Amino acid sequence: MCGIIGYSGHRPAVPLLLKGLKSLEYRGYDSAGVAYIQNKAMEVIRAEGKLSQLESKLDSCNVSIALSGIGHTRWATHGLPVEHNAHPHKDNSGHLAMVHNGIIENFQELREELLAKGHTFSSETDTEVLVNLIAEGRKDNGTLLDAFSWALGRVEGSFAVALTDLNEPGVIYAARQSSPLVLGVGVGENFVASDIPAFLAYTRDVVFLEDGEMVRIDANSWAVYNAATREAVDKKVDHITWDVQSAQKGGYKHFMLKEIFEQPRVIADCLTGRVNGSKEIMLPELEGLEPPKRLHIVACGTSFHAGLWGMHLMESWAKIPVSVEIASEFRYRDIIMDPGDAVLAISQSGETADTLAGLRMVKEQGVPVIGLCNVVGSSIARESDRVVYTQAGPEISVASTKAMCSQLTALTILALYWGLQKGTMAGQDVEQVLSGLSSLPQDLEKALPAIHETAKDLAREYSSARSFLYLGRGLYYPLALEGALKLKEISYIHAEGYAAGEMKHGPIALIDPEFPTFAMALNDGLFPKVQSNLVEVKARNGRVIALTHEGLPLEVDTSWVIPELIEPLNSFLALPALQLFAYETADYLGKDVDQPRNLAKSVTVE
Ligand code: M6R
Repeated sequence: MCGIIGYSGHRPAVPLLLKGLKSLEYRGYDSAGVAYIQNKAMEVIRAEGKLSQLESKLDSCNVSIALSGIGHTRWATHGLPVEHNAHPHKDNSGHLAMVHNGIIENFQELREELLAKGHTFSSETDTEVLVNLIAEGRKDNGTLLDAFSWALGRVEGSFAVALTDLNEPGVIYAARQSSPLVLGVGVGENFVASDIPAFLAYTRDVVFLEDGEMVRIDANSWAVYNAATREAVDKKVDHITWDVQSAQKGGYKHFMLKEIFEQPRVIADCLTGRVNGSKEIMLPELEGLEPPKRLHIVACGTSFHAGLWGMHLMESWAKIPVSVEIASEFRYRDIIMDPGDAVLAISQSGETADTLAGLRMVKEQGVPVIGLCNVVGSSIARESDRVVYTQAGPEISVASTKAMCSQLTALTILALYWGLQKGTMAGQDVEQVLSGLSSLPQDLEKALPAIHETAKDLAREYSSARSFLYLGRGLYYPLALEGALKLKEISYIHAEGYAAGEMKHGPIALIDPEFPTFAMALNDGLFPKVQSNLVEVKARNGRVIALTHEGLPLEVDTSWVIPELIEPLNSFLALPALQLFAYETADYLGKDVDQPRNLAKSVTVE
């Protein structure tokens, strides 16, 4: 995920682009850059790190008052977050400069084709391939608009791009396919950007672009075209009434809510390029690495819960013995490692001190470490022998939601990958899971609004509870732990997650009408066991919310029925129910949802 902006108008473009990028920094911040035309040359200034690094660099450049330009803030997908991979990228002639958000899936083959035609590349990015492809297309296709359309027709994947050309100063072209892009219509100035806050200080009139559309702006005009046919498209101008802060949250009240609702897209992004229609899983990151004989998963907090969930899949599909360890414990144990063992370090931020210390400890023993991280170029990602990125995009809210969803997706892919390599999965199971995964983003998208409504109602009903018990078995035990963590973290209501079968060994003493239970009672092989645990709770006058599937016999206070998929994919619908219940409870109680007390997004201390 990256942020892009393009401007043409009557104001100095560079400061305006920087201001716009500042508001897009939530989309990524590992490097940034701008391009503008000065003294008849295309100037591209880029810097590694946060936007402030680019600002300092620009301070020492003699930036003229260019009145148009493009800008980018990056969340690395192809290539390390270093300056030569930062955007904008130029074509070989140096006439075109481009910024891009998204992933071009067939960039490797296009790169080879362009190399054969004599193009050279100075970065590892897919973007540099696209801008050179446009330049190549211009040789045969006349205008830049024609060449742009031709090149877009050749790329597969997702993109929002903005393009500037030395031959047409003051003109910006842009296009979108499965990545956000909006057009801002001003007076004597026009804008394109990944998100409205980037230009909200200058205009509230916007045109929402659709997939397959491209746009040309200059200071005094704008036009939208069908990217394939180049025919003009009639568009409506909408007037925005949001303030800047809520717009950054895409109209959601909090980042947490926005991130919960981003989960369908997160699953799709994590699957992109890894799972295709056939019975094949592509994880080039792990090429040449044998499936481990034994896997030690090391993580903290929500990432630890994801690891516990992944353990079930590794064991049943790939037949790999797995232990899941809390990193702060693991790092101080005398862990016995055998030849063939590997460590999987799971961390959204890639900076968690305990997980990093555990990784360093086993690396000293020569044990191979695979990092499962969200933040590209983070310490854990860099220090692992191999890294699989979860591709969830930046997570702003301290409470981790979409990152866990992406971890579950990546763990599913990893277990399938090793299961297929070892031949331990029945072909029929593989087909079923692959087909379930391909429709999972749509299934979740469809289910989320109703799950949210129920979460709101239940949050109001149960918000006076002082304490909550979360119960689950099998795959739903880690989710019960996660549900309890979310509730305590943001609503400050005490909550405990327990394996449902353990309840009778102690916690049952706590059950009374004031101590509600949130049970994961979904339709898996362990449902009858959970059902009898809940009978035990009801017999002690405990109130029970059961997250369940249609038609399951339960005598509880609230049956919260969610749509049923195949196992283990039901977890992807159960997880947002837990997240939304915690979110709605915290919001109803007036808590600071995105920045709960005493917490930090990255725990870089022991
Ligand atoms: O960045 P990491 O995944 O390594 O972070 C681990 C935990 O600190 C994190 O999951 C924490 O528990 C979250 N705030 C939970 O919402």
